[in-house]
Amino acid sequence: MKIMLMVMFIIIGKPEARLKVGFYRKTCPDAESIVGGFVRDAAEFNQQIPAIMLRLHFHDCFVQGCDGSILIDNGPISEKLAVGHQGVKGFDVIEDAKAQLEFVCPGVVSCADIVAIAARDAVAFTFGPIYEVETGRRDGFVSNISLADNMPDFSDSIHLLKQKFFDKGLNETDLVLLTGAHTIGTAACFFLMDRLYNFLPGGGPDPSINPDFLPELFDTCPPDGDINFRLPIDHESGEDFDNHILQNIRSGFAVLPSDAKLLDDPTTKRIVDSYFGSTNQSVTPAFEADFVKSILKMGRIGVKTSSKRGEIRRVCNRFN
Ligand code: HEM
Ligand SMILES: *[C@@H]1O[C@H](CO)[C@@H](O)[C@H](O)[C@H]1NC(C)=O
Ligand SMILES: *[C@@H]1O[C@H](CO)[C@@H](O)[C@H](O)[C@H]1NC(C)=O
Ligand SMILES: *[C@@H]1O[C@H](CO)[C@@H](O)[C@H](O)[C@H]1NC(C)=O
Repeated sequence: MKIMLMVMFIIIGKPEARLKVGFYRKTCPDAESIVGGFVRDAAEFNQQIPAIMLRLHFHDCFVQGCDGSILIDNGPISEKLAVGHQGVKGFDVIEDAKAQLEFVCPGVVSCADIVAIAARDAVAFTFGPIYEVETGRRDGFVSNISLADNMPDFSDSIHLLKQKFFDKGLNETDLVLLTGAHTIGTAACFFLMDRLYNFLPGGGPDPSINPDFLPELFDTCPPDGDINFRLPIDHESGEDFDNHILQNIRSGFAVLPSDAKLLDDPTTKRIVDSYFGSTNQSVTPAFEADFVKSILKMGRIGVKTSSKRGEIRRVCNRFN
């Protein structure tokens, strides 16, 4: 058996190593706290930073895996310029943390891991679940705008959203829980103009919007208003990480069209409902614990752990 495995490795190459908690424990023991410090400092200046860091991790992982491909500046073909990445920010925080890490332990900590650690801290800083983040990712060698064509889009049908998640090894449970990330942060009116004014043939709002919510949305995002104006994605739920977003989605208070669509499919609807409804606590799943399972799963998408497939960049926006 051992010999057979050895022969297999020689023929097809070693299997990709797995991520692990505390990958830098020996090589750069302060790596995680250094990243956390930069996220915390940035959040003091700009309270949108936690949401920005969490979103960045999603957008990194869904194109070519969690490999820092979204951070690269390689001219007009840069992946980060893709339409599907519209509004993604936070590159400066990653770059600042990286600069400090290069000073403390040069050539050790990958940019992809900095993004994953920053997302973990973003959740913790907004009073969400505290979890151990897996590390050991290496940074990818490719950044290409057309590889972001399949990013989940705000206007996708639930069928397409599910398909795009399946393609990354994530299922309906993950789709619901990860959409729960919209418990923090804001969206630009741009993303709901069609839902408010052009949803039905001939114009008119999405009938799935609760009539009690419509006047406020019309007021916040008027037809001739500033499409860059931002509103909270999780209506009246403050800045904290909680399952209120799923409650909003259930009751027609979703802001983003893609969030509202979780009710269009029996499986995703059942999963949303499962976090409420039951008065029996022992059968109601725990939103926060389940979110952690799903974000860990997302953090493993397409990771590169061998030096053949990835490097440790010296700066995050350039290949070595
Ligand atoms: C299911 C597919 C998803 C779609 C279609 C989607 C779409 C969007 C859109 C359109 C925005 C507003 C962007 C802006 O106005 O700047 C947004 C914001 C956000 N998204 Fe998602 N998203 C999805 C999944 C996720 C996932 C999986 C995460 C993280 C685990 C995430 C985290 C966030 C966060 C935190 C924000 C707020 C960003 C901020 O305040 O700057 N999203 N998303
Ligand atoms: C980018 O990716 C597309 C699709 O895979 C490919 O056709 C194209 O040649 C790539 N461009 C570069 C510059 O690598
Ligand atoms: C999705 O996968 C997780 C394991 O990662 C599993 O526990 C869950 O039941 C699955 N959900 C569905 C709807 O199949
Ligand atoms: C709650 O659900 C558990 C598991 O299904 C069951 O054993 C228990 O009896 C239920 N408790 C109540 C009060 O219904």
